[in-house]
Amino acid sequence: MNAIEVKDVSVYYGNLCAIRDVNLNVKEKEFLGIIGPNGAGKSTLLKVILGLIKPVSGEVRIFGKDLKETNKILGYIPQTSGFDRNFPINVLDVVLMGRLKNRLSLFHRYAKEDMEIVTDLLDKLGLSDVRDRQIGQLSGGQLQRVLIARALAIEPKIILLDEPTASIDANSRSQIYSLLKELNEEMTIVVVTHDLAAVSAYFDSIACLNKELHYHGDKELDEETVEKIYGCPVELIAHGVPHRVFKVHEEGYDD
Ligand SMILES: Nc1ncnc2c1ncn2[C@@H]1O[C@H](COP(=O)(O)OP(=O)(O)O)[C@@H](O)[C@H]1O
Ligand SMILES: [Mg+2]
Repeated sequence: MNAIEVKDVSVYYGNLCAIRDVNLNVKEKEFLGIIGPNGAGKSTLLKVILGLIKPVSGEVRIFGKDLKETNKILGYIPQTSGFDRNFPINVLDVVLMGRLKNRLSLFHRYAKEDMEIVTDLLDKLGLSDVRDRQIGQLSGGQLQRVLIARALAIEPKIILLDEPTASIDANSRSQIYSLLKELNEEMTIVVVTHDLAAVSAYFDSIACLNKELHYHGDKELDEETVEKIYGCPVELIAHGVPHRVFKVHEEGYDD
């Protein structure tokens, strides 16, 4: 069964074509990495899958169903670069917000069950000690885990992450990927990333997007394909930082 089916999807912002005729099937419990240069339409594709953006043409199905019937199945961890860290809210409240689902109401009271689920999640993600801290006082890795906890609080079957490791240290990065790998036993996971080393270490498959979907398949795709898609040598991917990726592990090159 496919968890996600994207069929002939095109998205425009005014005259600008962000993605064109994209077809992508993601299997249940697949761990997929989406790569592509900046401006390639990666965030747009995630937003279409979530139903936040309506495509000009094509459709998205989640477990064979129309998007309208599938809320609470998808958890979303947005790109943190657009996240307002100064917003005065603490860790516990951010994660509890995940329990609001569609019951958004001024007078919403959390049930005992909500609190239990959230307490467990904070524990599992190593956030119990910072649960009363304002989000502005967290490290990049902690904030990322808070956002993952919030997405998990809806108890989704699929989670979509947009560049979750873009601005965090190597240690938190491997912590997050190990966590995702564990979650992957139960869930379908789609991650937009420039971190090709992580893709080859943890993921099942890779998709390359540059307005059109150029490739979806085995993660060990050759450097030539990657270079064609990025339009630059593989070493220059990942924010211009030299970064070797494929088939280099045996040389003991880490990252
Ligand atoms: N809300 C928007 N309005 C207009 N143009 C947008 C909007 N969001 C993204 N774009 C444009 O669409 C293209 C794809 O953007 P995006 O999906 O964010 O790419 P990526 O995540 O791969 O960097 C870019 O050219 C970007 O400038
Ligand atoms: Mg993006």
